[in-house]
Amino acid sequence: MYIVFEGIDGAGKSTQIELLKEWLEANGYEVETFVEPTGSEIGQLIRKILQRSDASTDRVQKTLGLLFAADRMLIMDELSNDKKVILSDRSFISSLAYQEHAEWIAELNKYAKKPDLVLLLDLDVKTSVARTSGEDEFENEEFLANVKANYLKIIKDFNHEIIDANNGINKVSSDIKKAVAPHVGLCKDCIQ
Ligand code: TYD
Repeated sequence: MYIVFEGIDGAGKSTQIELLKEWLEANGYEVETFVEPTGSEIGQLIRKILQRSDASTDRVQKTLGLLFAADRMLIMDELSNDKKVILSDRSFISSLAYQEHAEWIAELNKYAKKPDLVLLLDLDVKTSVARTSGEDEFENEEFLANVKANYLKIIKDFNHEIIDANNGINKVSSDIKKAVAPHVGLCKDCIQ
């Protein structure tokens, strides 16, 4: 089972992944987590480029699209573990939403693993900007509004659940558990 968390910056993906991991482990599942961009040399280069003053331009976003695909290729085998529940903070769906150019990005990510379930943590753009440090050039309202709109379109091609990420941590967490429960054979109505 490969479950992917997606959403604009500040949606709370990392916190929610930890809470879901704890819950799944308490229910006897073996869980492994991944974050994209990864800690690889390519991932480190990506994080540097994200801080450039021209990071939100089409040219740099296309360059990032190439690097994200390469970074992802390095973990491809690890994402295919049938014995574990894999929880991932982002996937090639982030590339489709952030870098756009759908056909080209899809081609670059032809060998990327397709998620079994996508959880879209849907957050208001204003809250996103307020929650993020703003240290990355693209963390601005206009850019993120476009990414959010892209997500809502793209997500329809995947088995997905949209989670309202504007709520408090505990409410978001229980909404996520309720969404995941039927996919892993757990009781949805048992979650508070
Ligand atoms: P993010 O998860 O926000 O990391 P952090 O906030 O901890 O630095 O990821 C960094 C940024 O990279 C984020 O704004 C989304 C972007 N991104 C893409 O544009 N395309 C991709 O394919 C991926 C995986 C991430």
